[in-house]
Amino acid sequence: MFDLIVKGGTLPDGTVADIGIRGDTIAAVGQLEAEAGRVIDATGDLVAPPFVDPHFHMDATLSYGLPRVNASGTLLEGIALWGELREIATVDEMVNRALTYCDWAASLGLLAIRTHVDTTPDHLRGVEAMLEVKRRVAPYLDLQLVAFPQDGLYRAAKGRENLIRALDMGCDVVGGIPHLERTMEAGAESLRDVARIAAERGLLLDIHCDETDDPLSRHVETLAAEVTRHGLGARAAGSHLTSMHSMDNYYVSKLLALIAESGMTAIPNPLINITLQGRHDTFPKRRGLTRVKEMQAQGITVGWGQDCVLDPWYSLGTGDMLDVAFMGLHVAQMTHPAEMARCFTMVTEHNAQIMNLADYGLAPGCRASLVVLDAGHPVEALRLRPDRLCVISRGKVIAERARNDARMALPGRPATVRRRHITG
Ligand code: FE2
Repeated sequence: MFDLIVKGGTLPDGTVADIGIRGDTIAAVGQLEAEAGRVIDATGDLVAPPFVDPHFHMDATLSYGLPRVNASGTLLEGIALWGELREIATVDEMVNRALTYCDWAASLGLLAIRTHVDTTPDHLRGVEAMLEVKRRVAPYLDLQLVAFPQDGLYRAAKGRENLIRALDMGCDVVGGIPHLERTMEAGAESLRDVARIAAERGLLLDIHCDETDDPLSRHVETLAAEVTRHGLGARAAGSHLTSMHSMDNYYVSKLLALIAESGMTAIPNPLINITLQGRHDTFPKRRGLTRVKEMQAQGITVGWGQDCVLDPWYSLGTGDMLDVAFMGLHVAQMTHPAEMARCFTMVTEHNAQIMNLADYGLAPGCRASLVVLDAGHPVEALRLRPDRLCVISRGKVIAERARNDARMALPGRPATVRRRHITG
């Protein structure tokens, strides 16, 4: 007897199976004949573990146009604009915007998010707000908070002190932004500092690292060395890493080995970086992405992060990790069938590994969280970015949507009901 069975769905590896759920746990996977409190028919649909976003800024989300738009479209104007907004945004406003975003996320099957939270201002209202959001969404969505010194650990007057205060308040992850410190040496010192803090406190580490087109911005090297020194391994992540796009190929051949040796993971953010990077180029314009396939070939775990939705840096966005993977697939030219399928794995399993999520997946014993998509397989999901027909979090159905078939009545063609994802 199960509480819930998701019947006949196609799993990401192509297996057709029923998933039996008891309480908040997956109890069995296979051909199940047992009774259930409820049966959800997923025949012909893709059943996947939930989407995971390892890089977001929830304190700024859904604030587009406040107090004005980013006219230049650059990273630096975005940071300046956010510097104005964070001084006028109230805790309630940030909580309400973030909860609305979490509603969007949950409806799309995005059930775990790592958000960076700006720890620059002395009032730390963003930290207060995001801790409240984390508490409110905890029954259905895993929220990890990164104490993030947006204006620089040393460049802001109380940057380091406020980051420590945010960790004491309850942030889960130590952040940093070495390329924004005053000098390369200060950036390197900031990395030594935050890696030590993470190691001493037993926390995760996630660095905005070299989000720049400068081929000589080489903090990734220092980050990898510090991760190795402290043995942080996959508890550490480098976000963005866009300088690697512009670096000399010989140097990158050394750097990739250093990153692989460290065991750290990597989080490119294709939607935001394809719009922010290359802004100082005329033509040819550089792509705003690190070397994804090259890192994966070295055995480095690489996910796709979303970074921003409707905020000072990015004027679009939906909360759909399939949009993120779709853009990443294009910009990184991951068009081989195996690479396209991997892009789906990146926004599910690989992102879960990056966030160090426990009990993630569709095996018996895993937490009963999953999403039913109106697509036949992962690559089709990327192509269509289809409706999420059902989202289950911890054994509870939290979102449902009717299948949106088209009733066709074309002259000279037979009247049919066209299910969107069937080709041919
Ligand atoms: Fe970011």
